[in-house]
Amino acid sequence: MFILTGKLPFAFLFSFLYLVNTITLAQPEFTSHDCFNTAGNYTRNSPYQRNLNTTLSALPNTNSGFGFFNTSTGQGSDTVHSLALCRGDANLDACRSCLNDSVVKLREICPNKKQAIGYYDLCMLIYSNQTVLRNTNIPYTVFLWNTQNASDVDRFNDALSPLLNNLIAEASGGGSLRKFASGNTSGPGVTRIYALAQCTPDLNEQQCDQCLQGAISQFTNAFSGKIGGRALVPMCNFRMRKKHQQTPEVENTETETMDIGTAESLQYGFSLVKSATNDFAEDNKLGQGGFGAVYKLFAKE
Ligand SMILES: *[C@@H]1O[C@H](CO)[C@@H](O)[C@H](O)[C@H]1NC(C)=O
Ligand SMILES: *[C@@H]1O[C@H](CO)[C@@H](O)[C@H](O)[C@H]1NC(C)=O
Ligand SMILES: *[C@@H]1O[C@H](CO)[C@@H](O)[C@H](O)[C@H]1NC(C)=O
Ligand SMILES: *[C@@H]1O[C@H](CO)[C@@H](O)[C@H](O)[C@H]1NC(C)=O
Ligand SMILES: *[C@@H]1O[C@H](CO)[C@@H](O)[C@H](O)[C@H]1NC(C)=O
Ligand SMILES: *[C@@H]1O[C@H](CO)[C@@H](O)[C@H](O)[C@H]1NC(C)=O
Ligand SMILES: *[C@@H]1O[C@H](CO)[C@@H](O)[C@H](O)[C@H]1NC(C)=O
Repeated sequence: MFILTGKLPFAFLFSFLYLVNTITLAQPEFTSHDCFNTAGNYTRNSPYQRNLNTTLSALPNTNSGFGFFNTSTGQGSDTVHSLALCRGDANLDACRSCLNDSVVKLREICPNKKQAIGYYDLCMLIYSNQTVLRNTNIPYTVFLWNTQNASDVDRFNDALSPLLNNLIAEASGGGSLRKFASGNTSGPGVTRIYALAQCTPDLNEQQCDQCLQGAISQFTNAFSGKIGGRALVPMCNFRMRKKHQQTPEVENTETETMDIGTAESLQYGFSLVKSATNDFAEDNKLGQGGFGAVYKLFAKE
C-alpha cells in the first residue's frame, strides 16, 4: 500500500480509519517504539515536563510543507528537542492525525522518560533532551520482516537490489525539503516488488545515503530472500514487499487488497508490541549495528 499515491478512495479510508481511532478509541499501538530507559527520567511537573508538553503541542504546527516537523523548547539541561516525519506519500490529514496520535501515545507509554521514539505506519515521532536534528547516533534500529522466503532467492535479490539502489539515490538526492522515493519492479515469475525509502530531510545527501545504505545492507544481510520487511532508524527508513502481479482488469481489486493489507499489518503491529516483552528484550538483540543496537521483531508485510 505504501506505494499508492493519489488513490483518493483509499486516502479517505485511511483518514477515516485514523479519525475513527482518534474519536472512538484510544490511539492505536505503535508499530514499534522505544522509551530509552537508560537515557534519563524527568519528574512530574518539572521544567522538563513543561517543556515537553509545550514542544509537543507546538510540533504539529511546524510542518515544513512536506510532512517534516521539528521544534525545541527550553534552555540548558531542560531543553526538549522533538522531530516528526510523515511517510512521503501520506496526505496532509492522515499525517496530522498520525502525529496527533503519536503526541498523545508516546508520553502515555513512556511516562517520565526524557527520550522516546514511536513509529506508526504513516509517521514517526521522537523527542529527547539531546539534539535530534542530524543526529545519527540515537541507538534505535528495528527490523520487521515477513517470515516467508522468496521461492527463488537469487532472482528475487537480483530484482530487489537495483530497485533499492535507485530508491536510495533518489531519496538521498531529494533536496532539503523531502527525501523520499518509492518504486516497483518486476520480480521472479508473476510478481512485482514494491519498495520505498525515506530520510528526514535535515540530513544532507551523504548522510541520507549512509543511513539508508546502512539500514538496507543490514536488513538484506540478515534477511536475504524474505519477501517483505522494513528497517526503521530514527533518521531513515525503508520498506519492501513482493506482490503477485495482477492483470490490468483486476488492478482495482489489487489496490484494495493492498490497502486492507496495511490496515491488517497495523493491527498486527498492536499484538506485535504486546508480545515483544519489555519493548525489546535482550534475546531479540541481533547485535550492534552502524546505528546502535539492532533488534528483531516479526511482522506481516
Ligand atoms: C510502479 O512503477 C511505475 C513506474 O516504474 C509507476 O508508473 C507505477 O505507478 C508504480 N505502481 C505503483 C503501484 O506504485
Ligand atoms: C540528558 O539527560 C541525561 C540523564 O539525565 C544526561 O545524562 C544527559 O547528559 C542529558 N543530555 C543532555 C544533552 O543534556
Ligand atoms: C529511571 O527510572 C526507572 C524506573 O522508572 C529506573 O529503573 C531507572 O534506573 C531510572 N533511570 C535513570 C537514568 O535514572
Ligand atoms: C504535561 O502533559 C501531561 C499529559 O497531558 C499532563 O499529565 C501533565 O500534568 C503536564 N505537565 C505539565 C508540567 O504541564
Ligand atoms: C528546525 O526548527 C527550528 C526552529 O525550532 C528552525 O529554525 C530550523 O530551521 C528547523 N530545521 C529544519 C531542518 O527544519
Ligand atoms: C490534531 O489535533 C489538533 C489539536 O488537538 C486538532 O485541532 C486537529 O483537528 C487534529 N487533526 C487531526 C487531523 O486529527
Ligand atoms: C526460509 O529460509 C531459511 C533459510 O534458508 C529457513 O531456515 C527457513 O525455515 C525458511 N522459512 C520458511 C518460512 O520457509
